[in-house]
Amino acid sequence: MTSRLHHFLSASAYQQYVYGYPHKTAYRAFETPKPLHEVWAPEQSGARFLYVHIPFCEMRCGFCNLFTTVNPVETVVERFLTQLEVEARETASAIGGSTYTRAAIGGGTPTYLTAKQLERVVVMMRQTMGLKAAPLSVELSPATVTAEKLEVLGDATRLSLGVQSFVEAEVAAVKRPQSNVEVMRTLDLIRAKSKAHLNVDLIYGMEGQTEASFIGSLETALRWRPEELYLYPLYVRPLTFLGKRATSWDDHRLSLYRAGRDWLNGHGYQQRSMRVFQRRDVVELQLPEYHAEDDGMVGLGVGARSYTKAVHYAHDWAVEPRAVRGIIDDYLARPAASFRSAHSGFELNVEEQQRRWVVLTLFGDGVSEVAFSQRFGVAWPEALPWLSSLVEEGLATLNDGWLRLTPRGLELSDTLGPWLFSEAVEARMCAWEAK
Ligand SMILES: C[S@@+](CC[C@H](N)C(=O)[O-])C[C@H]1O[C@@H](n2cnc3c(N)ncnc32)[C@H](O)[C@@H]1O
Ligand code: SF4
Repeated sequence: MTSRLHHFLSASAYQQYVYGYPHKTAYRAFETPKPLHEVWAPEQSGARFLYVHIPFCEMRCGFCNLFTTVNPVETVVERFLTQLEVEARETASAIGGSTYTRAAIGGGTPTYLTAKQLERVVVMMRQTMGLKAAPLSVELSPATVTAEKLEVLGDATRLSLGVQSFVEAEVAAVKRPQSNVEVMRTLDLIRAKSKAHLNVDLIYGMEGQTEASFIGSLETALRWRPEELYLYPLYVRPLTFLGKRATSWDDHRLSLYRAGRDWLNGHGYQQRSMRVFQRRDVVELQLPEYHAEDDGMVGLGVGARSYTKAVHYAHDWAVEPRAVRGIIDDYLARPAASFRSAHSGFELNVEEQQRRWVVLTLFGDGVSEVAFSQRFGVAWPEALPWLSSLVEEGLATLNDGWLRLTPRGLELSDTLGPWLFSEAVEARMCAWEAK
């Protein structure tokens, strides 16, 4: 395993953003559809995550590979909302009563919807799915936010705004038409109308971006004192880097990452993972228990994924605009009964569940020996002995029963993530045909 680790370390520090496992390109059609009541039967019903995916945006940013389509005709949006309600009814009746302790509306851009349409989504989550007083996170893009929509989202506890950069030339270079006046108006509006915690997404590694301009964007963002900042390394090569040595763009991103990390650290923010920075003086909300590595997620809407411990499933998925529209059309045409089963996904054996556990803990607080043993009835050094090579390489420390990444390990999260994949998952991902 150590030589495998060396193989990964010798390549780019930016191989893949791994925030879940296995990746959806490892999903395949099940031989026979799996009835949801069977899939969910072994799961606890008391701490689930409800996720709703809205696959629409008002623009298609040059860097984005999320499942979304741009400015669909209005009838598609209305038909999508109607079908989403059908999916919710069928899902709720198939999996039985659930208590949700987390919820999110993501995309795409949920605020692409009108206030009335957004209200339909919230009502569906509350009335059909039975969502009660759980923390609710919603994604927004600057030009789509209005006071009326913020009112509909009055129960949201976290609003996440994509900004990417406060330098207009930088966002223009990644083909995201966006004006600073609009972004600032939206930030003012959010702060005036909502009590939710604010997250701001920024990207580093864009064409023309320098350490000074990146810090300038951070400084500007801090005028609104966001409770949280997500700093994303850019994952689509800017044109100016074409033809240069592959490492030069890596070096650029790494130096911006370090500059941003150190600057935020000196300005009241604590790093929680490679991408997440939290304002230190924020009083943590008293949240009901939810453990992403153990508790299930019910995903609704084409583009959403759902997880139980042993079965992950999703609708089909694509990036290419025509393929995305085709998948949305298929979703709109599905008979209600088809939502009672999972059709495509991945079944996790115990080793895959252990790898997933590590993916979900290592890049945040760390891998707890006690928690791992309690969950799997075996110590991680016995189940996954190759993980200790992280310590030998100086990428993690092992203290008081916790395996934690060092600063070097943390900045290599996007290298270590893919290293954690099993051969079976890797093979499926390689065989997946991009569309
Ligand atoms: C769902 S969007 C956020 C909300 C909204 N759609 C918007 O763009 O304002 C998710 C975030 O992922 C990040 N992201 C997506 N694709 C990326 C890429 N290729 N490289 C870096 N960051 C990316 C962006 O920061 C983006 O704000
Ligand atoms: S970054 Fe946001 S607005 Fe842009 S295409 Fe992706 S989801 Fe849509």
